[in-house]
Amino acid sequence: MSLSDALLQRVAEQYGTPTYIYDLEAIGRALGRLRRALPEARIHYAVKANPNGAVLRHLAAAGVGAEVITLGELRRALAAGIPAKRVLLGGPGQDTALIHQALGCGVRQVSLDSLSQWRLWQAEDPQVGFLVRLNPALDPRTHEHLATGAASSKFGMPLEEAGQLAEELAARGQLLGFHVHAGSQIGELAVYEQILAQLAELYQQFPAGLLDIGGGFAVPNFPLAEFATRLRDFIRRYDLQLVLEPGRYLVAEAGFLLTRVVQVKAGPVNHVIADAGMADLLRPALYGALHPIRLIGVTETDRPLVMVDIDGPLCENADRLGRARTLPSPRRGDLLLVEQAGAYGFTMASNYASSLRPAEVAVRDGGLILARRRETVEDLLRLEDA
Ligand code: LLP
Repeated sequence: MSLSDALLQRVAEQYGTPTYIYDLEAIGRALGRLRRALPEARIHYAVKANPNGAVLRHLAAAGVGAEVITLGELRRALAAGIPAKRVLLGGPGQDTALIHQALGCGVRQVSLDSLSQWRLWQAEDPQVGFLVRLNPALDPRTHEHLATGAASSKFGMPLEEAGQLAEELAARGQLLGFHVHAGSQIGELAVYEQILAQLAELYQQFPAGLLDIGGGFAVPNFPLAEFATRLRDFIRRYDLQLVLEPGRYLVAEAGFLLTRVVQVKAGPVNHVIADAGMADLLRPALYGALHPIRLIGVTETDRPLVMVDIDGPLCENADRLGRARTLPSPRRGDLLLVEQAGAYGFTMASNYASSLRPAEVAVRDGGLILARRRETVEDLLRLEDA
């Protein structure tokens, strides 16, 4: 179910463009799909995908935990009502300051990315339990920027090292289990098969209770039913509590970027210049991501179809939302909707070229809530005046 054109026009009138729109009920539906497929799993939402307070509060109210990697994510999760006992701290950059802040906030579950990270934790509170992050050293068949499980990536430890660290932790009674996050936008079950084969070696040796299989579920078209069947077999065999860390799966399809056409330029390539671009939604420029884009309130019967590039307003070729799209002849003033933009959208937006980051609006029960106001030039200047 998508948002009606009337509602989108109302968003543009009330809040201007560009604006991110989050359909909270759609987030609930995605969560429902995951829970129905794997009712036994504990879900820790990967806050990096979309840390907006309205989104986090919605997930907190649904009983979801959080996966965080920075103090900012941790504080946002807690502020939204996710209790510290349902927060898992991960990431390759934990330093002493973050460790102390996380402990101070009550975090007691940590994913260890390296031996050197463990050396920092070793001196701290023995009440903390640890997951050991495995680097499965495989090709997760996704964009190279998203391939966190490749041997060349900075994440996790090779099998043997993971086993050695697990032994040390188990001896201290601090081993919770193992963690793998092999990449993002993973669409092939075969990747998880390879991961489980490696994990089997570890769980045969260490019958620890938790398996955190990460997130990474591709949007759209993740083979959720087959994934669930395969994982359920595995956790039953080793008597494990399953943990999932979905980011994109929960929020991508619930989010939209509403933008207005500011110029139309006909030529060898027809360019439609929108008021949003790489500063607002970086994914097309950074990963070549393909977001569906449609015109609001105009149909194919109203105007002839043309092929256009949809570009942003900044002075850089990569400033683009979509390439070679067929749309009913866009005109200045038209509204465009960029879909599947709820994950890694606003959170990766920047002030490049002193762009002002968009407003964020949540839709709940058909009503609109301003979840974050649009930035102003004063916001840009404020930190420098200090
Ligand atoms: N767990 C860990 C340890 C992660 O590093 C990530 C994402 C997730 C869970 C959630 O992954 P998801 O379910 O969202 O795929 N900016 C990129 C995505 C980077 C993902 C980084 N890690 C993008 O726009 O596609």
